[in-house]
Amino acid sequence: MSRRFEGGKIVIASHNQGKVKEIADLLAPYGADLVPASELGLPEPEETGQTFAENSEIKALGAAREAGLAALADDSGLVVAALDGAPGIHSARWAGPNKDFAAAMNRIEEALSESAAAGRPGRQAHFTCALTLAWPDGHVETFEGHVHGRLVWPPRGGKGFGYDPIFVAHGHDITFAEMGLEAKHAISHRAEALKRLVAACFEG
Ligand code: IMP
Repeated sequence: MSRRFEGGKIVIASHNQGKVKEIADLLAPYGADLVPASELGLPEPEETGQTFAENSEIKALGAAREAGLAALADDSGLVVAALDGAPGIHSARWAGPNKDFAAAMNRIEEALSESAAAGRPGRQAHFTCALTLAWPDGHVETFEGHVHGRLVWPPRGGKGFGYDPIFVAHGHDITFAEMGLEAKHAISHRAEALKRLVAACFEG
């Protein structure tokens, strides 16, 4: 049985404004009192895990212990089949310290061209999101979501964040960056993980 969230504040343990906004939107119907980690001046812990789930647990537990409050963290990324799963848990790092996602998307496109030239074509990719709700006593609840699709070039659209301009979900023709947030929330990896978390910890 999952532990229920009994009300009060939840720290959103992310410094990524795109993610904070999406999580706040998705949790809005549940009346939780959300506090961004940046408001509390919490440090960003080093992501030393080998999986999305390990890294989201590191971030959520770090914030819960520092703040003495329940904390929610997301670790997510783009997994490209022809690149053996890269950039994966290193999705943010591929954009460098200046968070230059135009450069990161170029790097993916170059790697895909090299992979195709080496006889390994294919533009299949998925986003994964692991979401962890952690409590100051060390208890964690972690849930994952995925959305599968393909990568397009050149990048299209000005909405969203990160790799959204090159990702087209299966069954769609427009990129995540061309979709409104509501349409993205209907199918995204983050929305799916959050649905699981809400069912287990808020409604269960
Ligand atoms: P981290 O979870 O903070 O390590 O960073 C995950 C990175 O994955 C983000 O900085 C984005 O580059 C990428 N990412 C995760 N979710 C999305 C999404 O919904 N759209 C586009 N890029 C995403």
